[in-house]
Amino acid sequence: MKNAVSIQLQHCGKTYPNGAQALQPLNLEIAPGETLVLLGPSGCGKTTTLRMIAGLEFPDAGGRVMFGDEDVTALPIEKRGVGMVFQNYALFPNMTVGENIAYGLKIRKVAPAERLQRIETLLEMVHLQGLGHRRVDQLSGGQKQRVALARALAVEPRVLLLDEPLTALDAKLREAVRADLNRLLRKLGITAIYVTHDQGEAMALGDRIVVMERGKIAQIGTPQEIYFQPASPFVADFIGTMNRISGPLREGYLYIGNGRLAFPAAPQRAPEISAPVTAMFRPEDVEVFDAQEAGAFSGSDVQGRVLDSFFLGDRTRFVIELYGNQTVIAETARRGNWHAGQTVALRIAPHALLNCLSSDDGMSTHATAQVTA
Ligand SMILES: Nc1ncnc2c1ncn2[C@@H]1O[C@H](COP(=O)(O)OP(=O)(O)OP(=O)(O)O)[C@@H](O)[C@H]1O
Ligand SMILES: [Mg+2]
Repeated sequence: MKNAVSIQLQHCGKTYPNGAQALQPLNLEIAPGETLVLLGPSGCGKTTTLRMIAGLEFPDAGGRVMFGDEDVTALPIEKRGVGMVFQNYALFPNMTVGENIAYGLKIRKVAPAERLQRIETLLEMVHLQGLGHRRVDQLSGGQKQRVALARALAVEPRVLLLDEPLTALDAKLREAVRADLNRLLRKLGITAIYVTHDQGEAMALGDRIVVMERGKIAQIGTPQEIYFQPASPFVADFIGTMNRISGPLREGYLYIGNGRLAFPAAPQRAPEISAPVTAMFRPEDVEVFDAQEAGAFSGSDVQGRVLDSFFLGDRTRFVIELYGNQTVIAETARRGNWHAGQTVALRIAPHALLNCLSSDDGMSTHATAQVTA
């Protein structure tokens, strides 16, 4: 691919004509060749952001969109050199695969012989060799989405924009096309922005992920940063499953049911204040033990009762009620056989606790939490 271009959104807000403020003014920088994922719940402004980069929407006054050194703020989509792939394919149903792919080339008056050659190259790129003459309404969903991708790439765009391109596919196919797409994006080295509300997809594809919340950026980071160091409870809850347990904090310990957690990272307060403090942790960081067996660990645990267990194939998920009625979700890849009603002991892996005082506060990881009775 040609030289990849960087993208900058500077102070880009979006208010629709009906007065709806879809985006608060935001700044965003995408490196050349980077795959950036926009992730967030329905209505948070992902598509609006993407369409602003595409030139299908324009930012409110004061906003600027840059492609490299070029100010493209006022340019419409056909002048920006972007390729777009949508959720619902948006192919021409009465054309063949090849005609769909070459559509943009024809408009640009590329000679027929060269068009045919480009079609062959692109078909190979998306693993659809030999299907150039097939009508698109005779293709599977996954094949249609590959055609849409080939069509977007045919005109050699500077930027590839994808809006939930895999949503219409079933889970298995989605994973297969996702893997292909990932390989292709790496190989092409094209700057790409990928919109999804699926966190698995975001983790698998993104060099970085932008988590959006109600028209604002909640966090930008690598998949690892977003997962292990969520900047807010919103991000923590949106990505994966996050447990929250609360209890009074006294002298560096969080008291939970019949146990307590060493919690040195929690902000120190005056000793007479024992307002509840919340700790967060991932289900995979909880270890489950037989309550009797755990007794041997000199009480380094909290106890609870198994409410439910779900076998998920590669792991088992347990819902456990702690003494004091708080619920914890634990997941283990071991073949645990805890059953509903059984009393168990929990330990939480070191490095796993996040500190979260209230929904307005940020959080911080801390390294040395352990549970002591
Ligand atoms: N053309 C429009 N006119 C008015 N409001 C709009 C328009 N398009 C979107 N909105 C509003 O702007 C907000 C953001 O919409 P947007 O389509 O960007 O969300 P999204 O994150 O892509 O959501 P989804 O995951 O459902 O596709 C929503 O509240 C939506 O109702
Ligand atoms: Mg959308």
